[in-house]
Amino acid sequence: MKYLAVLGRQPEISIAELEATNFCTDTSRLGGTMKLAEEIGSSPLEFLKNLPEGKITLGVSDYSKNASQRTAVNEALKLKKILVRHGRSVRVVENKDATLSTATSLHNGLSGKNPRKVELIKVENEWFRVIGVQDIEAYARRDQARPARDAKVGMLPPKLAQILINLCGPLPKGATILDPFCGTGVVLQEALLMGYRAYGTDISERMVEYANKNLNWFVSSLSRSRPSLRGSLETAPRWSQCSETNQFQVLVGDATSFTWEQPIDAVACEGYLGRPFSKIPTEIELKEQKQECGAILRGFLKNLALQVKSETPVVVAAPAWLRENGDYSRLDIIDEIEDMGYNVNNKTREGLLYRREGQVVARDILILRKK
Ligand SMILES: C[S@@+](CC[C@H](N)C(=O)[O-])C[C@H]1O[C@@H](n2cnc3c(N)ncnc32)[C@H](O)[C@@H]1O
Repeated sequence: MKYLAVLGRQPEISIAELEATNFCTDTSRLGGTMKLAEEIGSSPLEFLKNLPEGKITLGVSDYSKNASQRTAVNEALKLKKILVRHGRSVRVVENKDATLSTATSLHNGLSGKNPRKVELIKVENEWFRVIGVQDIEAYARRDQARPARDAKVGMLPPKLAQILINLCGPLPKGATILDPFCGTGVVLQEALLMGYRAYGTDISERMVEYANKNLNWFVSSLSRSRPSLRGSLETAPRWSQCSETNQFQVLVGDATSFTWEQPIDAVACEGYLGRPFSKIPTEIELKEQKQECGAILRGFLKNLALQVKSETPVVVAAPAWLRENGDYSRLDIIDEIEDMGYNVNNKTREGLLYRREGQVVARDILILRKK
């Protein structure tokens, strides 16, 4: 079966995530993929004619090279006309552009769950049907409804947390994910949702308190919506249980010296990003920030290398700062990281930057594996 992924705003990160998951087809687990579709051949009409009886809702997105709103609308109306002639009732979802936005697909129920509500994707002469759409509303809920938030720490978007976890590669259910800079706990929350055990530490007592508050809220909202997640096992000492495989623990600890409890199956975190900046830092500020953030990252990686087993994936979002020429200045510690006992993924060498337009402090995603 041939699949098609509509990638997020940073395609190189989306591709790295898809590759790391061995091309997972569950959009609820892929922070970097907007839509996933599977091939239906070259005849969309045959596909539509075989849909179960009842009214069809049809959306068409045209991702061909010379596509426009008009080409997409024409295709949709052409299909509707023939289907109506065959006695089918069809509602066409309005195109504001050549392609339907994720929000439009979601609001019209075109996420692949209802067999009579379909979004077809055209790429030149090939046709695909959408089988999953990123649930942007669920991400927003998980982000905005959390009880303990801190604007100064710059909370990680849940989809980026998911990307960091996925970049660790396939992990067994119940694997323990460590976030040693857990802040308010976004990585830990996403890890729990993906069926992993979440282990967080942070140097700040306040952050540990926030993360515990957020995770307790998250687990109770999760078990209300999915009762099967309530576990029957005894909670391990110090671990809070939310299902047989889901547990979390958050402790105060300095990542450069802390001794973590084993097992640690993967490490996914957003490291210390330094001071927030609203404008481009001066050369002196940049030097200071690089020194401060670099020292913490080096100290952490050295400490971690002594504690994790060979092949443990370690994915870190490190800071990178915007320069006047529009480039980003990275920490440049790749060679040192190798000497500390990690293999560095090629994509890390090229640079995988996650940023919004004009953002001063971007996240430079480092994909490492303990030698
Ligand atoms: C960018 S924030 C992480 C935010 C987190 N991803 C979230 O979504 O809330 C970095 C965190 O690193 C913590 N931190 C700074 N230095 C540390 C160290 N040496 N050891 C552990 N945590 C540290 C800070 O307290 C802060 O919570």
